[in-house]
Amino acid sequence: MFTIKKILLDFMEEAAGVTSFPVLSWQFAATGRNFRQSAFHIQAAERADFTQLIYDSGEMAGKDSNGIKPHVKLQSGRRYYVRVRAAAEGKWCTWSEPVSFLTGNIAENWQGKFISAETPADKDNSKGTYLCKEIQLDKEVEQAVIYTTALGLYQFFINGQRIGREELAPGWTAYQKRLSYQTYEVTEYLKNGRNELRAHVGAGWYKGMLTFHHVRNLYGEQTAFFGQLHVRYTDGTEDVFATDESWLGADSPVLFAEIYGGETYDAGKAEPEAGMWHTVQCVDYPLNNLQPQTASPIRVAGEIPVQKMLVTPKGERVLDFGQNMSGWVKFKVRGAKGTQVKLHCFEVLDKDGNVYLENLREAKETITYIKGSDAEEVFTPHFTYQGFQYAWLEEWPDDAQADDFTAQVLHSDMPQTGSFACSEKLINQLQHNILWGLKGNFLDVPTDCPQRDERLGWTGDAEIFSSTANFLVNTHAFYQKWLGDLVAEQADNGAVPHVVPDVLTPVATPEMIEHMGMDGASGWADAATIVPWNLYLATGDIAILRRQYDSMKKWVSFMDARMDEQGRFTYKMQFGDWLALDGDGKTPLGATPTPFTCSVYHLVSLEIVARSAKILGYLQEAAAFNQKLEKLLRRFRANYLPEGELTVKTQSAYAMVLAYKLAPADIRPKLAKELVDMLEKDGHLVTGFMGTPCLCQALSENGQTAAAWKLLEREEFPGWLYPVKQGATTIWEHWDGKRPDGSFCSPDMNSFNHYAYG
Ligand code: BGC
Repeated sequence: MFTIKKILLDFMEEAAGVTSFPVLSWQFAATGRNFRQSAFHIQAAERADFTQLIYDSGEMAGKDSNGIKPHVKLQSGRRYYVRVRAAAEGKWCTWSEPVSFLTGNIAENWQGKFISAETPADKDNSKGTYLCKEIQLDKEVEQAVIYTTALGLYQFFINGQRIGREELAPGWTAYQKRLSYQTYEVTEYLKNGRNELRAHVGAGWYKGMLTFHHVRNLYGEQTAFFGQLHVRYTDGTEDVFATDESWLGADSPVLFAEIYGGETYDAGKAEPEAGMWHTVQCVDYPLNNLQPQTASPIRVAGEIPVQKMLVTPKGERVLDFGQNMSGWVKFKVRGAKGTQVKLHCFEVLDKDGNVYLENLREAKETITYIKGSDAEEVFTPHFTYQGFQYAWLEEWPDDAQADDFTAQVLHSDMPQTGSFACSEKLINQLQHNILWGLKGNFLDVPTDCPQRDERLGWTGDAEIFSSTANFLVNTHAFYQKWLGDLVAEQADNGAVPHVVPDVLTPVATPEMIEHMGMDGASGWADAATIVPWNLYLATGDIAILRRQYDSMKKWVSFMDARMDEQGRFTYKMQFGDWLALDGDGKTPLGATPTPFTCSVYHLVSLEIVARSAKILGYLQEAAAFNQKLEKLLRRFRANYLPEGELTVKTQSAYAMVLAYKLAPADIRPKLAKELVDMLEKDGHLVTGFMGTPCLCQALSENGQTAAAWKLLEREEFPGWLYPVKQGATTIWEHWDGKRPDGSFCSPDMNSFNHYAYG
């Protein structure tokens, strides 16, 4: 007995906005063992009852149930249904439950214009605006689909009803080259007669303050909205209502909202008065940059009640949600019209138990709300998010109660696929912290941290964490989108910027670019090879390798071209074994020399490219890459492993050489023993971003499992369980983010929600 229990579309559980027939994968539920599919049968239809088929594969012999792509011509803005059945040992199971997907604007017949309720004079303004249009529908509607996006952030409403569950849409891409649009089926929101279409738009990543350089207008000076509604009537005709000069604009009650800065909202201004609507301006933006967002939008993924309300020794009223997270505080507030309330979100209490805001640097994480009536009101922010466990009620009426507040957790919506639990409570908490480190930093872009004035798509952090992420959740749509941005931001010479989307290069001075460089950091830029490779390993999706292959090759050849005679890569600023404890303590750099770490990553990337070439069937290229790999490995061994001795005497060097299998197999046990001796001598790990992920694997794969256990189970600083013992609910940026005496390792670079060591 077996059935098909789940069908994935393009490797995801939902698909809206797809522009070609999704790749199908299906999972079985079977009672017996050794179950093997021998044939499958796929049908697709425009109706859920499968009466009018648009595709019928017939019974196809085949054992694959992953990565099957039917080739079917689809129309824009339609819903299609798919079902699958399969056979094993001559017996067919019943048809699966149908799944459906919604197509995006395949025809790309864009008719809308980007319209703004702002003018160039609003360049220094991060206020919210409304864009609005009334339309008339006189015939019976068969189906209506809208494509929407914005320069900035937006929410969209039809007749006052919010469309979709996305937050912070359209997300963050390399806006100058790519902008995601969302696709919604809106049939049920429309009625015969007059209908109001309304967008609410905010500054977001597009023009609000961004980066630790605190610059604004990185992509443009005016927010704008784009929408195109296709209404198909039962008589077969269609109307298109698209944004243009006939829409009206007005200021919204959002007086200020920025990613880092929080939001100020005046509920007294909730609805613009009739005379406040004004004409809108069209903003130039290339429509061929539009690309569909098909899955994993940012959504409210959970709610956490207040665990404790406390008053600090300084007298601050504080809410403790018991979990570090990304999101915002939803609240109820009472008081007379015009009453202003203000709260600040933050991560940790200081040594004395008082509010600690320093590690947020210039990020304000402040919500200010002005009451619009005398009645109780409920508020949720619109165009910001906070990284926090606590909220400080700086200005609030005395009657505040714990159940007036709920933390809403925001992250890209990715179903959990992996979990781990054991009998050791502290390790289970560590596992929890790893998962919440992911949740806190997967907001459309894989960020380094969610709280301070940074929150950037640091490539190194993403690369290091990607295999853990793939184990925990279905990252397919998320990484695929981000890798598209990586390609968009990669220089012609192959250099990959430190952060994707790249918001550091545009604001760097020529001197900074010349001396430090804003790209080409080994281990960071290798996100170009490692992230797609890990995604391929997790999903079996060859298309991801095909899509990224040129980018992978370009990055490897960037390094090739900058090797010196001895095969050393010494390009500009290298982060190396970032934050390792064996550095000089004056900088965040570890002791492992960067020419060494660069060579290691170069070999790792080269091997990935060689293997990808083979999988993609580029056999000549694969052979050439393998040849080069052998040559460079010989040189690496000559440089760093003469006569079987590893010349770089750091824990990270040993861990990397072992985990990446760069030493000949026969000397690995000896190296592992030396690594154990070093750990004994140092008394603990001293590894940073590069060495840490390799450490336990290097030991346990080479006969030193006991030493790996010892590292994992260590409860004192430095070790994975030290933050757990300190009450951490996420992974910390530093092994000693908070010291045993309650002091902090640094005021300005100390995130308590940084997934790398996870
Ligand atoms: C980030 C990192 C990042 C590093 C590189 C930090 O500010 O938080 O995690 O990789 O910079 O310099």
